[in-house]
Amino acid sequence: MKVLCWWLMVLVLAGRGNGQLVENFYAATCPMAEAVVKQAVDAKVSQTFTTIPATLRLFFHDCFVEGCDASVMIQSPNGDAEKDSSDNLSLAGDGFDTVIKAKEAVESFCPGVVSCADVLALAARDVVVAAGGPMFNVQLGRRDGLVSKASRVAGNLPEPTFNRIQLNTMFARNNLSELDMIALSGAHTLGFSHCNRFADRLYSSSVVDPSLDPTYAQQLMAACPQNVDPDIAIDMDPETPHTFDNVYYQNLVAGKGLFTSDQVLFTDTSSQPIVNDFANSAGDFNAAFITAMRKLGTTGVKVGNQGEIRRDCTAFN
Ligand code: HEM
Ligand SMILES: *[C@@H]1O[C@H](CO)[C@@H](O)[C@H](O)[C@H]1NC(C)=O
Ligand SMILES: *[C@@H]1O[C@H](CO)[C@@H](O)[C@H](O)[C@H]1NC(C)=O
Repeated sequence: MKVLCWWLMVLVLAGRGNGQLVENFYAATCPMAEAVVKQAVDAKVSQTFTTIPATLRLFFHDCFVEGCDASVMIQSPNGDAEKDSSDNLSLAGDGFDTVIKAKEAVESFCPGVVSCADVLALAARDVVVAAGGPMFNVQLGRRDGLVSKASRVAGNLPEPTFNRIQLNTMFARNNLSELDMIALSGAHTLGFSHCNRFADRLYSSSVVDPSLDPTYAQQLMAACPQNVDPDIAIDMDPETPHTFDNVYYQNLVAGKGLFTSDQVLFTDTSSQPIVNDFANSAGDFNAAFITAMRKLGTTGVKVGNQGEIRRDCTAFN
């Protein structure tokens, strides 16, 4: 009996992630949670593709500020919540909308049980799969945060001008390794960027950034002339913008990384071997991406009695 108990303990502990999350957290309290979230996400994806990159990026930005606790979802009447910061990322409204709809769907089955933070983590996985990316299990049990302030965003999100050391430093603060950082950057295989986020590479000096492929630089200058409409956004992966794949890394090898922070992963000889590996092996990239997403999902999580289970993702209870 003693031995059996001991083994059960080992099994339970082994199923726990870093942040004390578990995969089957809602097995007893809301068994259909994952299926309901997926159905809501798929419905939204079928309406607009933007759902996919918007939701994936929303998850990243949520986790890097206050931890993965849906703090990014809060709306403040004073315009001073996390999402209102000037770093606010130009987060696309479709990401917020996806989480709000999925949470509403889950609430209709099991009210007050599933956190917005978990809904966002599940939705981020579901959009990757919807874009043709790898399937993986999501650890659950996050509680929703009680703090969402624009003033706490600055300095916690990476800038597109960052070099490898700056990227590593910021990811390390979130317990993510260089390998995780490079794998997560592969999210830029999807989605859009506004011209001002990379214009410095084209226009800030008399020569165009030499790490840019010249033909690609021409295309970028044509799409983003100086003083372009600030609302113009272009695909970050010029080859397969709607597919979650390893072409992002092939682009880096070809000098077609959009941001300095993308291209530097290849031009810095320390990280170049990993980029080459991911460019050559979709399997290696997918495996590293899954590991990194699961780790990202444990960042600063609240569990147990911490935080709350929000009823409405955009407002504290
Ligand atoms: C490594 C450091 C990173 C930097 C410097 C960075 C920076 C940026 C910037 C500047 C944009 C363009 C925003 C705009 O102009 O609208 C962007 C878009 C995006 N980022 Fe990142 N990012 C990084 C890492 C990540 C990670 C880890 C993820 C997710 C796992 C991610 C997912 C995305 C997605 C999906 C978009 C497209 C958003 C859309 O189309 O709505 N990024 N990123
Ligand atoms: C982002 O921040 C800017 C400046 O702080 C603000 O004008 C804009 O409305 C914000 N965007 C969103 C989507 O919150
Ligand atoms: C990083 O890991 C340490 C040790 O496990 C933990 O105390 C800390 O909260 C983690 N940091 C984040 C941001 O998750």
